Amino acid sequence: QKDPYESFYKLMAEAKEFYKFNLKNSQKGQEAHKYLSKREISDDIIDHFEIGYAPSHSDVLYQMLNDKGYQVSDMIKLGLVKQKDDGSYYDLFSDRLIFPITNPKGLVVGFSGRTLNPKETIKYINSPETVIFKKGQLLYHFNEALSEIRKNKQIVLYEGFFDVISSYKAGIKHGVATMGTALTIDQAKLIKQFTDSIVVAYDGDQAGQSATLKAIDLLEKVRLKTEILTIPEKMDPDEFIKAYGVEKYETLFGEYTSDPYQFKYQYFKRGKDLSNANDITAFKNNILDMLAYADPSIQNIYKNRLAADLKVSPDAFE
Ligand code: UTP
Ligand code: MN
Ligand code: MN
Ligand code: MN
Ligand code: MN
Repeated sequence: QKDPYESFYKLMAEAKEFYKFNLKNSQKGQEAHKYLSKREISDDIIDHFEIGYAPSHSDVLYQMLNDKGYQVSDMIKLGLVKQKDDGSYYDLFSDRLIFPITNPKGLVVGFSGRTLNPKETIKYINSPETVIFKKGQLLYHFNEALSEIRKNKQIVLYEGFFDVISSYKAGIKHGVATMGTALTIDQAKLIKQFTDSIVVAYDGDQAGQSATLKAIDLLEKVRLKTEILTIPEKMDPDEFIKAYGVEKYETLFGEYTSDPYQFKYQYFKRGKDLSNANDITAFKNNILDMLAYADPSIQNIYKNRLAADLKVSPDAFE
């Protein structure tokens, strides 16, 4: 049975090779390479993740693919090339670091391009949704991590590309990323096909922590055993590894995860003033909601904790 999108995969693979070539062989690619060095990404890592560079010349990918006989209509369908009002074509990615994104079978289906310019407001540009690129059904580095996921009987869920990459550097190679969007039920089901256990290691900032809260409830639906790694000082995993080194990250990873109840309790407690009546009510309701369907033993633990924090008797919550 022939895959109807075979020619699309071929085109995307061609584009990936083009970007990889440009990182290693072009003048501006040298600058991109320097950027990666500054972020402590070695050539081995570049090769494993097949990182590339999209040149700033506006239509070089288009020209190359055109010379090789690819149809411009396909380039457009795949979001690699766009057409201007004057009819000319230009590349979507220009002067950006390129991360190829594969589907669970390992075929390249999309790209994300990171700016090298700290003043640029759009940090990452992604391929648009196409017939083969459906972000909500994919996880970055999933296919590449599969053997490690099996070996570890676990998967690690990150937000971003550099978190997956730095984790890999630290020897934690079963990491994947949702690429900044909310975890979907399709992604949770995909994970569940290969493992029963997950560590959520989203960014330590407020956005990452509230995304964690949502992810926990979704993962519960597919019955994944979930642990949460909270990165200190509002850092993301990549920033933590850069600041404290790979060994510290391994320690954090091995010893400082919490279960969903512990995470939620901390999450709801954070930022609340427990001498303020409104905050007390909100906190109490958060925790009692959290416990609504919990086992009696869990209820016991957290009602006691809540009572201690609010300096009341645990009987108050019966
Ligand atoms: P973050 O904002 O946490 O970026 O978004 P990051 O991964 O730490 O990026 P670096 O370290 O500055 O390079 C997490 C993920 O969300 C997606 C990317 O996949 C990113 O890795 N994202 C972020 C976008 O798609 N577009 C954006 O403009 C920003
Ligand atoms: Mn030209
Ligand atoms: Mn983030
Ligand atoms: Mn981040
Ligand atoms: Mn980061």
